[in-house]
Formats: sequence, C-alpha cells, structure tokens
Amino acid sequence: MNQPAVVDQNVVADRDAPAYVKNQKLIDWVQRVAALTKPDRIEWCDGSEEEYDRLSQQMVDAGTLKRLNPAKRPNSYLACSDPSDVARVEDRTFICSARASQAGPTNNWIDPAEMRLTLDGLFDGCMTGRTMFVVPFSMGPLGSPIAHISVELTDSPYVVTNMRIMTRMGRAVYDVLGAGGEFVPCLHSVGAPLQAGQKDVPWPCNDTKYIVHFPESREIWSFGSGYGGNALLGKKCFALRIASTMGRDEGWLAEHMLILGVTSPEGRKYHVAAAFPSACGKTNFAMLIPPQDMAGWKVSTIGDDIAWIKPGRDGRLYAINPEAGYFGVAPGTSEKTNFNAMATLKENVIFTNVALTDDGDVWWEGMTDTPPAHLIDWQGNDWTPESGKKAAHSNARFTAPAAQCPSIDADWENPAGVAIDAFIFGGRRSDTVPLVTEARNWNEGVYMAATMGSETTAATVGQQGVVRRDPFAMLPFCGYNMSDYFGHWLKVGERLEKLDARLPKFFCVNWFRKGDDGKFVWPGFGDNMRVLSWMIGRIEGTAQGEEHAFGLSPRFEDIDWGALDLTREQFERVVFVQDSAWRAELELHNELFTKLAQGLPDELAETKAGIEKRLSA
Ligand code: OXD
Ligand code: MN
Repeated sequence: MNQPAVVDQNVVADRDAPAYVKNQKLIDWVQRVAALTKPDRIEWCDGSEEEYDRLSQQMVDAGTLKRLNPAKRPNSYLACSDPSDVARVEDRTFICSARASQAGPTNNWIDPAEMRLTLDGLFDGCMTGRTMFVVPFSMGPLGSPIAHISVELTDSPYVVTNMRIMTRMGRAVYDVLGAGGEFVPCLHSVGAPLQAGQKDVPWPCNDTKYIVHFPESREIWSFGSGYGGNALLGKKCFALRIASTMGRDEGWLAEHMLILGVTSPEGRKYHVAAAFPSACGKTNFAMLIPPQDMAGWKVSTIGDDIAWIKPGRDGRLYAINPEAGYFGVAPGTSEKTNFNAMATLKENVIFTNVALTDDGDVWWEGMTDTPPAHLIDWQGNDWTPESGKKAAHSNARFTAPAAQCPSIDADWENPAGVAIDAFIFGGRRSDTVPLVTEARNWNEGVYMAATMGSETTAATVGQQGVVRRDPFAMLPFCGYNMSDYFGHWLKVGERLEKLDARLPKFFCVNWFRKGDDGKFVWPGFGDNMRVLSWMIGRIEGTAQGEEHAFGLSPRFEDIDWGALDLTREQFERVVFVQDSAWRAELELHNELFTKLAQGLPDELAETKAGIEKRLSA
C-alpha cells in the first residue's frame, strides 16, 4: 500500500482503534491514511442502530437528508445530490494494473506509479475539517467461505448509512477479520476539505473525480463523488472490478448477475443467475411474480445485481449475493411493474434524487399513472405536471434492506450459497435475437454472453437505438482484460466438465423484440415466467425445442400459454431467426473480436465459424 512521505504523529495520537480491533495491518493503514488526508476526527463505526440514527440526524441538521413523513414512510430519508454528481462516472474509472494490456482495450488505464502520485496529491489534506469514518464490512454472509472482508475509509456520513444497508457492516466484521485476516482497503473522499469556519454544503463533492482500482494490490481509491457506485465501494468497485481479478486468480467468478430461485408446482427448486445490462429490468426479473394462471410456480429473490460464484467440491457452482441491500433505480418502479420492490420500500429506506410530495413522501416518474398535482423536484424546485421536466432524476435511487423484500429466498443468507442450474444472458434488442435460446454447450454459452449487445436508450448519452456490445453485462465492471475474462470462463467450464458434474445450462433471452408497429411484442414482466418454466423443463429434460444456427429455441407448442393470449404469429415474431439479420449480426461480433483481438480465446472464433456454417447450410 502507498506510504505518504510524512507521518504526522500528532494527527493520529488520539485516534486509537477500539480494543476490539486486533488487526494491526488495518490499524496501521488507518493511521497512514489519516496522516495523508488529515481529518479532524476518526470515527470507528460499529454498525449499530444508534450510530445510524445519530449520523442520519446529523445529515438532517446539515441539510443533506430530509426525514420523510414517518406515517407514510417510517424511518426513511431523502437525499438530493449536487446536480453534477448523479451517476457512475465510467470515463473517470481506471484500472491501474502494472501494464495497460492487463486492463485491456475496454478499460481506462494509467500507469500505477503515475496514478499514485496524482492520488497522493488529491488526497493530501482532503478530509480537513471532516470526520473520517472507518467502515468495516463483509461482502456476503459473515464468515461464509464465499464472502470477503473489506474496510472503507470515507469522509461521507451518507456513505456510512448507505453501506450499513448495502453490506453486512459493523463490529462483528472485526471478529471474522481477526488479527491476521485479509481485507480489501477502500479509500473514499468527497474531495471537499473544509477550512476553519467554512460552512459545509448539503452535498459536498469535487468536479475532479477519480475512481481507481489497483488490481495487483487489491486497493480502491475514490475521489470527488458521493454518489452510488462511485462512493459505495463495496458494490461495483470491490464486488465486481476487484473481485473479478480475485476470481481470475483463485478460480471463481464475480458477476454482474441477479440470482433467483424458482420452484416448480411439483416443489422442485432450481437457481438461476442472470446478467443484463442497465435498464433491462434486472430487479424486476429478480422479483418476478408469476401470472395468476401459473400460480403453482414460485420465484424467490437471492440477489438483484451481483453474484459471487465458486465451484464446490461436487463440481457444481455455488453462488451468493455479496450485497445485503438493493441500490435500485426508482423511476419506472411501480406496483404494476414490480410489486415486490414497492413493498420492500415501505420503510427504512434512503431515497436519492427522487421528488418530495407535499405530505412528506416520495414520488418518481412511473410510480403512479397520475402524477401528484404538486411536488418538490430532486433539485428542490416547485414542480407541477405542467413543468415539462422530470420530477425525479432518471438515475434516482433507493437504498433498501434486502431482507424487507417479500420474495426474499429462504437461502439468501446461506453461507454455502445456492447451486446454480442455469445462466441467463440478455440485452435489449428490437430485432435479430430470439426471445430465448439455449446454448448447446458451455463454449457456445460463453460465446452468447461474450457477444451480448443492448440498444442504447435515452438514458445513455449519444445516439439512440445503436447496439452497444456489453459482454456478460460486464463492460464497465470487469477489472481486467476482457479477452482474458472470456478465457477464464472457458477454463472454469473445462475444469467443471472434468469433474463430470451437472453443468449449468446457458440461455440467451431478449424480452424487447418489436413488431412492424414499433411496439414490443412480448408482454414481459410476470409473463417472463413462461420462458423461465420452459428453461426449467429443459433442465429437467422434459421440454422440447427446435435447433437453429444460434442454438435451440422453443416452438409455440413448447410454451405454457395459460391465460396469455399471444398468437402463433406473434410468437413467431419474437423467435424467428433471419439468416440475413444474423449475417449482419456476425459482422458486429467480428468488430468486437477485432477490438479484443489480443488474447482472444480461439474457442470464440471456432464457435462463430460453427454458427456461420449452420447459417449457410
Ligand atoms: C447498477 C448499474 O447501478 O449497473 O447496478 O449501474
Ligand atoms: Mn448493476
């Protein structure tokens, strides 16, 4: 870890760790960081309710939080960020591995020595006038063999309270860490030192932002932002970018996947992990409620965003959700689109950048069909439906405890994880990609995932409707060279195949195909259960399908239609594979493979050649 040039003993003298902190490496690191960042105080967080309430009250007093009406939304708060600090900053996110080739062409890279110099300058005195919080947390159930421990040092009390919801945060972490345990050091500052007498602002941040990962030393340094994935470092920074490199080195997988359980009417339970890029309804799928006519089926939620997956001795893959909460996008969430999410949000929630109602509750676009007549928008202005702008920011979020979700799976905290029966990969494609396709083998599944694409939406800067490749939905989250990541997946499959265990199946889905009228043909949401039940049939060996160039898809008669009135012709529209469209699609795969040429595993070109051959046959 980085050593600041001068350690000022006076700064750290009265800041000793509590007696229950036994890990000298941690104590030394905290002192070194304090010497560099020069906070006024250090607070060792214990994760208690008293601490949460006290920090929340401090933030209410400082104007960072508003307490919501306890009769409407008990124990809940609204935070409104600075308008310049509203989302993850991918262009300011860096993977500083020793060599640029290790980060690969899809990541921003800067020489680690140069980056350390930059960070040393930025962090020097950056916590002046503030408190530095020491936030110990476990990603995954405490003590689980799949879990890992981390400590975030931050000058943001908003980060502390969010981390208490999003992770297992608090004193018990030190017992697991012990004197000699390993932890991933995460250092965070909003980058807004306060000089003596200077008044703070409600949402301190800095126009200069750096979200930096050092994969070799497994360190994270984040400067300048207080928002979401930039600041809650357990999530994207640790659980995906750093953990993906740990998984590569140790033979496991850290994935941008939801995990759900699905129980058949006969009571047989399966587990599925699914990767979708942003804005493809991941949280909705994780909390799916089967339609009335499929009431015998049950879907339960293990995680909505990240899966850590490790091979067990029996050759199966076991997954945990490393998080303990949901940091979900609020706009578009309603009782119609995600009843379970709305029930999860009844109390104990931190909302960020949504609108405030006149009776002290929250509202966002899509929450109700008819908007309230008056609101205070996320920027603190009066708002009416005639205002002509959004009341909530399009990336407004809720931070809510996972345990409050009505569909939470009984095994969601099982330290052993759940055995994965299938992987699902999906994107938003108005054409070409069928509703659901099963890969014929592991390598074909890796190909499907590697070539995943999604059409850009209004939420993405730039041209709309352009297909952006997002391999495994990991484009912004893979902590190393994407080609090596594909190689790692292939290697994991090869190893499992040798163990002769039942391998998970791979499916590619696309809920978003459009008809000639430009409207979605597939109803989606709860009706996705029909696709899920076909997958379970495939796993059990009872469901049939038809092979095509890309894999195997169901025929009309292979789906349980129940009460859904979808015609054979409409179904054709969402499953047909058109040769010309696929030839064009393969050209786009070529573009991706050319970009990722360095170290690209041969298996991908071989699988592509197989698809081409089947197309010309
Ligand atoms: C998220 C994301 O917030 O993927 O989960 O951006
Ligand atoms: Mn995500």
